[in-house]
Amino acid sequence: MKVVTRIITLAIGVCLILSLSACGKTQTKSKNSTEQAQTAVSDALVVYFSATGTTKGAAEKIAAIINADLYEIVPAEPYSEEDLNYNDDESRTSIEMNDPKARPEIGGKAISLEEYSVVYLGYPIWHGDAPRIMSTFVENHDFNGITVIPFCTSGGSGLGESGSHLAKQAGSGSWLAGERFGGSVTEKELQSWIDGLQR
Ligand SMILES: Cc1cc2nc3c(=O)[nH]c(=O)nc-3n(C[C@H](O)[C@H](O)[C@H](O)COP(=O)(O)O)c2cc1C
Repeated sequence: MKVVTRIITLAIGVCLILSLSACGKTQTKSKNSTEQAQTAVSDALVVYFSATGTTKGAAEKIAAIINADLYEIVPAEPYSEEDLNYNDDESRTSIEMNDPKARPEIGGKAISLEEYSVVYLGYPIWHGDAPRIMSTFVENHDFNGITVIPFCTSGGSGLGESGSHLAKQAGSGSWLAGERFGGSVTEKELQSWIDGLQR
């Protein structure tokens, strides 16, 4: 009788361990899955920096499509037209982009990423890379457990290594390859890109 009881107890124990480990696996998988993040739309945040409104337009469209929250990275010191002159080697943006260590300060209200499992990260391409203020943002936030999807707008340059640079600077998060869009990107094009992320 004692032996039978021991066997039953052992069997129940094994079943419990197996079901718990299966449960753990599912949770890990779904946390890193873009699909899960897309369906649980309230978990998504679109973060963007935009100096002249182009990236802002794309960010707003993405947020509307996936019903995500929207957060704008606002520079403590706004960029003037002079600052944005990329033909002038002495302009503020040229100086910042020539200095990999430049970290322009962020103004406006702060945001915590704690409640999000997916973050779209948008910016214009400056001198072939992400503006240094994006580095300020990623270095000051914890992306652990978050799927990060970079996107950019530009006059023609691709995303290049901007996404991988930011991923390295962030040091956490599961970063996707990301995408570049032109200024006239439509909601339909963005929808099809987002749908593609789930495949
Ligand atoms: C300082 C500066 C540098 C730029 N460098 C590039 C570049 O290297 N390649 C490119 O295709 N466009 C470049 N552009 C153009 C912007 O990427 C493009 O206009 C972008 O869509 C602007 O986005 P925004 O309106 O959200 O700021 C640059 C613009 C500025 C102001």
